Amino acid sequence: MKKVRIALLGLGNVGRGVWKILQFNQDEIRKRSGYDIEVAKVLVRDMNKARGVDIPEELLTTDFNDIIEDSSIKIVVEMMGGIEPAKEYMLEAMKKKKHIVTANKMVLATEGDQLFETADKEGVMFYYEASVAGGIPIISGINESLTANKIEQLYGIVNGTTNYILTKMALDGMEFEEALEEAKEKGYAEADPTSDIEGFDAAYKLAILSSLAFGTKVEFDQVYREGITNITSEDITYAKEFGYVIKLLAIVKEINNKLQLRVHPTFVPATHPLANVYNSFNAIFIKGNAVGDLMLYGRGAGDLPTGSAVVGDIISILRNNVDLESYLPSVKNNLWHKEFIDMKDVECKYYIRATVEDKPGVLGELTTMFGKNNVSLRSVIQRGKEQGEEGVSLVLVTHFTKEENLLNAIDLINIAPYVVKVDNIIRIENF
Ligand code: NAP
Ligand code: HSE
Repeated sequence: MKKVRIALLGLGNVGRGVWKILQFNQDEIRKRSGYDIEVAKVLVRDMNKARGVDIPEELLTTDFNDIIEDSSIKIVVEMMGGIEPAKEYMLEAMKKKKHIVTANKMVLATEGDQLFETADKEGVMFYYEASVAGGIPIISGINESLTANKIEQLYGIVNGTTNYILTKMALDGMEFEEALEEAKEKGYAEADPTSDIEGFDAAYKLAILSSLAFGTKVEFDQVYREGITNITSEDITYAKEFGYVIKLLAIVKEINNKLQLRVHPTFVPATHPLANVYNSFNAIFIKGNAVGDLMLYGRGAGDLPTGSAVVGDIISILRNNVDLESYLPSVKNNLWHKEFIDMKDVECKYYIRATVEDKPGVLGELTTMFGKNNVSLRSVIQRGKEQGEEGVSLVLVTHFTKEENLLNAIDLINIAPYVVKVDNIIRIENF
């Protein structure tokens, strides 16, 4: 049996998952890859941290030189997170002809060009399945199995932390903070969970997926982004009343050769398969012009599901021949030039929740403001005033309208004297 030496950068949630899989599936991996995989070194920050896995102490190092200067190490697996030093370490390793596997969507979505170019130039393989949707094989799905299609629309629940929080709020009546703490304990959240709850993590993933699915280069800052921190139990209850479930969706649609790219909380019809994706599960729903509707579902975060994608990438490299010096990576994400649609031109249905004074004529004046801006209303609910409350809750649902028109109406409503505040605006998708 041939032997290969690899190095792990990071032994956190994902690193531990990879270590465990390499141990408990050793035999399967050996047979499937044709190699005995030896972990030669593991880079960490803190040598004294308890690791929770049975790993020989002598494998740990805090010095990247121990890895980069060891020519017997053929594959470097980056699971540290963040941009630096992850990017620099991967570039240095590529220049030393080491193949790379990464789980890091942040560095791919923001600095991917340099990494792909260097991999290409140095003739090394660069795999990144775990960067989007943890254990779901969506990258290889798009890059390999779906290449016969023109993908028209893609909707993803691609962040496990926010899906876990929204599930706990909807099904268990849990408060936001409590659910976030649980997601952190379970190892789903990023080191800085702002990235999860403010939608950055989903936007990084959407930039990667849409580049691949639509064959055009998508920069992270071309993705419109909103997180879930504004969602309250009232929104969740109203959504249910209207027959919807609130999910943080990453959406890309091609309309007249232009792409719409957005991440935001969304009302999803309760009957749609995406509405039934709970806890830390992820799912990606694709409309292809040959395959039709397709959904991939699985665990999007956590040590073993993510480790499964990382180890799968290591095996792919071994199968492609780890000793081959010049191998071109298969990702070419600039096959076509595509324009991007400005968010103000996006057309959606909207849910609007506002607190208003309980006075005669208020409802009439508000609906007139919508009408003047070409926003047609589908339904309106007004709740009676609870004792001690400043105003009453008014909920409106629109027909399809241009975002610009909606925002013009909201600008007027915001300054109306009888409006206490506009509490939330959530887009509705009907697929
Ligand atoms: P984590 O638990 O915070 O682990 C990070 C590891 O990297 C730790 O072992 C840390 O060392 C090490 N590290 C960080 N900076 C370092 C540095 N400058 N020098 C040396 N070592 C350093 O993170 P994670 O959850 O495993 O996530 C890792 C990557 O996978 C991220 O890119 C994340 O976005 C991605 N990802 C995570 C998941 C998930 O479910 N968690 C799923 C898919 C993708 P110490 O332990 O000594 O501090
Ligand atoms: N923090 C990410 C999530 C990890 O919650 O989905 C997986 O990328």
